[in-house]
Amino acid sequence: MAILKIIVAPDPRLKIKATPVKEVDAGIRKLMDDMLETMYAAPGIGLAATQVGVDKRVIVIDIADTKNGEKPNPLRLANPEVIWASDDTSVYEEGCLSLPQKFEEVTRPARVKIRALNEKNEQIEFEADDLLATCVQHEIDHLDGVIFVDHISRIKRDIILRKLMKEKKQGAFDPKMHAL
Ligand code: NI
Repeated sequence: MAILKIIVAPDPRLKIKATPVKEVDAGIRKLMDDMLETMYAAPGIGLAATQVGVDKRVIVIDIADTKNGEKPNPLRLANPEVIWASDDTSVYEEGCLSLPQKFEEVTRPARVKIRALNEKNEQIEFEADDLLATCVQHEIDHLDGVIFVDHISRIKRDIILRKLMKEKKQGAFDPKMHAL
């Protein structure tokens, strides 16, 4: 396994619409494992291949509260898609490993149904609510070149992206961890 470098916004690579995976083979499984290792090291609860500069529709998620004794529960998904979304919404204060230390409230459907390929190349469907619903929608957004600040007002977004640009110039992020 290997720790990958996470791209920090603003960066044109975060705006790429990722290419579907044909089959979850050994190469994709290795990517999923490397992404999980990178996510746990950060630490974070979700990561999309777009964030590590890989043009493939692959995401990993683990929302288990391991600090409070929950067992790790990693999700490895290829070609994830929302096939149903509830009309009711929920608001979460979101963050992102590509926008270090930046948090804003984002409104999204409260419940979604997801279809994806798992690490065994099997098609699966599951329903998500609460934090998992938010997380999976956030990660699928990355595969479409969308970051969470694209859901907030332009003024707030510009302030955050300008701050990140300044921080990058000042060398605020660990170059071993973050690709600048
Ligand atoms: Ni993110």
